[in-house]
Amino acid sequence: MNPTPYVKHEQEALDYEEWKKQKGDKPSIWTKLLSLKPLSAEKDLEIPHAYDGIKELNNPVPTWFNVLFYGTLIFAAGYLYYYHIGEYGERQDDEYQTEMTKANLAKQQFLAKNASSVDENSVKVDPSQIAVGKGVFDANCIACHGQHGEGLVGPNLTDEFWLHGGGVKDIFKVVKYGVPEKGMVSWEKNMSSANISAVTNYILSLQGSKPANPKAPQGEKYDAAAEEVVAN
Ligand code: HEC
Repeated sequence: MNPTPYVKHEQEALDYEEWKKQKGDKPSIWTKLLSLKPLSAEKDLEIPHAYDGIKELNNPVPTWFNVLFYGTLIFAAGYLYYYHIGEYGERQDDEYQTEMTKANLAKQQFLAKNASSVDENSVKVDPSQIAVGKGVFDANCIACHGQHGEGLVGPNLTDEFWLHGGGVKDIFKVVKYGVPEKGMVSWEKNMSSANISAVTNYILSLQGSKPANPKAPQGEKYDAAAEEVVAN
């Protein structure tokens, strides 16, 4: 048998006695925080009653517990004053209402913004926009396309011939991005997408209106039915 393990335990036991002695001399922060008392002080802590030989020690409440306990009392007083007496802070249900109001506002703004932001993919033929579109056209486009869209510098917009296609999306695109190298302005920056959509619808309404002094056809004949077949 190898006696080493016993020697080792004895050694450890000695170390433990040593450790206890040290602890008794200068208690560590941990010991203080837990209000631990050295074993040597046990005699003084004993409460002078005993039941069936069981003794009780009068151990004080540890410091950490007191700090926590009084801390919660102070916090509760502050909380009560802040939220319920002084009513400085927003209470939960008010906070909820505020958040809901904010969210509803954001939702409305989002919907409003999206309703008015049309692009070349979502633009639709909508005769109700023609009147607004005429106003936009009269204000911005007459100089180049003529009073009635018959064409001047720019092409005739009332015939079936188109340089860039005669579908609602084609027209929207040309107006939005322009054809700068050919003298057609890009309106993207100076016109809302709603107005571009409106003027697009106005131009479509001019189809076949046969104004006086039409400019000669340019581009290719646009066949809406054929285009739709291709698109589908
Ligand atoms: C500075 C002159 C000028 C102004 C202003 C102008 N255009 Fe044009 N527009 C042109 C020219 C030039 C072309 C032909 C471009 C080409 O040859 O590709 C053109 C082409 C077009 C086309 C395409 C026609 C086709 O045959 O495919 C549309 C649609 C159009 N313009 C709409 C408008 C609208 C709407 C406005 C006003 C918001 C407007 N333009 C203002 C000069 C102008």
